[in-house]
Amino acid sequence: MAKLIVEGQEKDVQDGEGIKDAAKDLGVVFGCEDGLCGTCMVEVEEGAENLTELTQAEKDMGVDDKNRLACQCKIKEGTVKLKY
Ligand code: FES
Repeated sequence: MAKLIVEGQEKDVQDGEGIKDAAKDLGVVFGCEDGLCGTCMVEVEEGAENLTELTQAEKDMGVDDKNRLACQCKIKEGTVKLKY
């Protein structure tokens, strides 16, 4: 079981699952949910290595591994701490 932390609140996420639902529960606002609008952009404070690789949509948006689109990335394992 992995853990997502947003602004000090945390939620368990199954290994290999997308972080979208947990991030929503922790207050991240989403728009398109398809990697197109950038509304869900979050800053990765810790655990960037525990997220899946940048998707093509994220590359197209010009983000890097410290600024991810929460609708796009999955958590592999461990803990990921985000700032929103
Ligand atoms: S919700 Fe639009 S890019 Fe993630």
